[in-house]
Amino acid sequence: MDQKTIEKLSEKILQLKNERKAVILAHFYQPPEVQDVADFIGDSLALSQRAANTDAEVIVFCGVHFMAESASILSPDKIVVLPDKNAGCPMADMIDVAQLRQKKQEIPEATVVCYVNTTASVKAECDIACTSANAVNVVASLPQEQPVLFVPDKNLGHYIISETGRDMVLWEGCCNIHDLLPIEDIRKAKEKHPEALLMVHPECRPEVVAEADKVASTAGMINFACESEADEFIVATEKGILHPLKKRCPDKHFYMASERLVCTDMKKITLDKVYQALLTLEPRVKVPMEIRERALGCLERMLEIV
Ligand code: 13P
Ligand code: SF4
Repeated sequence: MDQKTIEKLSEKILQLKNERKAVILAHFYQPPEVQDVADFIGDSLALSQRAANTDAEVIVFCGVHFMAESASILSPDKIVVLPDKNAGCPMADMIDVAQLRQKKQEIPEATVVCYVNTTASVKAECDIACTSANAVNVVASLPQEQPVLFVPDKNLGHYIISETGRDMVLWEGCCNIHDLLPIEDIRKAKEKHPEALLMVHPECRPEVVAEADKVASTAGMINFACESEADEFIVATEKGILHPLKKRCPDKHFYMASERLVCTDMKKITLDKVYQALLTLEPRVKVPMEIRERALGCLERMLEIV
């Protein structure tokens, strides 16, 4: 789409958004032009906080399905629209309710902590959620002697263990975009940019995390880069983050650790689909009451700890 078409469509979106009394929330992995029409851009944690506190009548969620579900759980009276109903998170689909119930039977005494990248039905079976921004604090808040089952991201789980010294049982899930980032790509990027600091998302493998100057959520990386005295950064997370990084720190230089770091699900949301979503208020995401009631506590307990 050329720049002129983007501008025209963005104007129409902003007008329609006001008519609909809608708020547009977007994750940092969204395409740049989608981020640019959003009222609020954030990481998973900030987006849940925003979804819980908006007074808009409609939430257009530019992200993936579990994020829209969390918005529906936290703001059940709002209309929540996900511009492409097929924008999912493959990691969230690596665990389902039946599998989780079976695991819980094996360790019935465990507190179950779930990464926010899980379906609402899975959250309904868990004790407390976390995002990459608060995972360490959430686990550290649990009584020391309490056994913990952490689902579904084994890489984030390993990072929490390394930071807290807690022994946790980990589910065998992962984000295929972050998990498939090879250590060789990190070494090559460091050789090419020896002055650059390496920022790594904790969804990456432990050997990649071990090389990092900063391990952080997407929002944490942006804050770190803006506040740091360094001028150059290697970025080990999804490519969409380059847009807010360049916007907020225009004089600094950012290099992707690998060109493969692209989440095709996040990129399913386009400006056209955002416009259509505002026009039709479809596709909607509505978590059924019975699941919502059980999943709400899991998210609320997390939001209390932040
Ligand atoms: P954060 O926004 O919490 O950094 O998470 C990244 C992610 O993979 C969202 O799906
Ligand atoms: Fe899921 Fe990974 Fe895409 Fe995030 S980047 S939505 S964890 S597949």
